Amino acid sequence: MGKVLAILGGQWGDEGKGKIVDFLTEKADVIARSTGGNNAGHTVKVGDETFKFHLLPSGIISKGKLNVIGNGTVIDPKVLLNEIQAMESRGYPITPNELAISASAHIIQQKHIDEDIESGGKVGTTGRGIGPCYADKVRRVGIRMGEYATKDTIPSERLLPFVRETYRILNAAIDEGKNVLVEGAQGSLLDIDHGTYPYVTSSNSTAGGICTGLGIAPGRITAVHGVFKAYVTRVGGGPFVSELGSEAQLKKEPSIEEVKRDMGRDGVAQLRRRVLIKANHDDAYNAGRYLRLQGMEYGTTTGRPRRTGWFDAVAAKYAITINGFSSAILTKLDVLSGLREVKVCVGYELNGKSIASFPTNIRNLEKCTPAYRIMPGWEEDISKVKSFKDLPKNAKSYVEALHAIMQIPVSIVSFGPERSQTAVLDPRMFF
Ligand code: GDP
Ligand code: IMO
Ligand code: MG
Repeated sequence: MGKVLAILGGQWGDEGKGKIVDFLTEKADVIARSTGGNNAGHTVKVGDETFKFHLLPSGIISKGKLNVIGNGTVIDPKVLLNEIQAMESRGYPITPNELAISASAHIIQQKHIDEDIESGGKVGTTGRGIGPCYADKVRRVGIRMGEYATKDTIPSERLLPFVRETYRILNAAIDEGKNVLVEGAQGSLLDIDHGTYPYVTSSNSTAGGICTGLGIAPGRITAVHGVFKAYVTRVGGGPFVSELGSEAQLKKEPSIEEVKRDMGRDGVAQLRRRVLIKANHDDAYNAGRYLRLQGMEYGTTTGRPRRTGWFDAVAAKYAITINGFSSAILTKLDVLSGLREVKVCVGYELNGKSIASFPTNIRNLEKCTPAYRIMPGWEEDISKVKSFKDLPKNAKSYVEALHAIMQIPVSIVSFGPERSQTAVLDPRMFF
């Protein structure tokens, strides 16, 4: 039997799942997306090239792999077609050897997008029609890819050759000893059941979604690994206990496009230095702003600044419990460089009492305040580091502290967007 490894988001999305999936693709035969739709945005950098995927699995960059879009996803055919055509025009031909789309995946229709834009404001949805499409699926009135040829929603005949019974392809591949890599979308805290409801997406982005979204039985999944940023970000509304600064402060902040327009590229670097000085004088909002500028935490389409905060170990342990993560993959460690001290939220206080677990009740979560463990930061730029042992002492201590707090191994550390800026600490965890 081949191995099935899943790479899921441990926080509120944008943890760097795409980068990690691309990194692990070399030894995989099949790369599969199980849930979500084009609300996902996965950026992968290989050399000078940058790819941004919404629906196509990141494995599409690596030649000779089969990419599967599973039954648990929702598909906007126009978006998918554009993505396919964009890849083809860059010299990546996509045939049924490279891509299979589940006949049971539901189709996002224009009415879903209209409804989402009209009513998704409070949650801050991506406006892609995700929630309304899943709602129609559950109400049993949706249209599925396998049936779309008979409906008036056909955007293009071009997608039809890809539409297949993907559960069979996946299970046959596993039987033949092939390795399957599951690319998560969104993050554990955005899961419809286990996330910070109602500030969530409309699918199961946690481990259960792999089985239902692909038709792979639980016993066939070798391991599930969680991707965590070395800090936390969140897009859209909802509670965020370890947030740095307030949403009101963030609203006043110019978008990165405005900063670049007004100050130029050098101006961004100068601004980052000024912000760092304030951050290192205990100014929480500017510490958050530093993470934003340093980590380029701006929405890919709107340029809107993302909310940022310190690593939340309470939320991380919750995600580890729900998903049964075998290891944590830590990304964007380089972004913390420069900060005099780094903090980890190790506990919550609710109504003056410390609580041990992540509250699933949103009203309680909203009232929680963070308890921090403070650690010394590091000055060094670590983007050129080649292995874990070459990291500055304090960066190593930070990773080791997260390991000790989370009580699962840290299997990979990432310190830049490129494939090469990755260190595997525990190769036994992978193919
Ligand atoms: P995903 O949705 O989980 O795939 O994550 P996104 O692609 O939306 O966001 C992660 C962003 O961080 C992308 O722009 C990546 O290129 C970038 N990235 C990934 N890993 C690292 C890292 O270790 N360091 C830095 N600086 N950037 C990273
Ligand atoms: P990736 O795969 C970050 C957020 C939206 C919003 C909420 C609901 O790139 O990590 P939806 O459109 O799904 O109904 O929006 O979920 N959200 C994401 N945030 N990364 C994502 O995907 C997200 N997908 C949805 O911002 O708050
Ligand atoms: Mg993303």
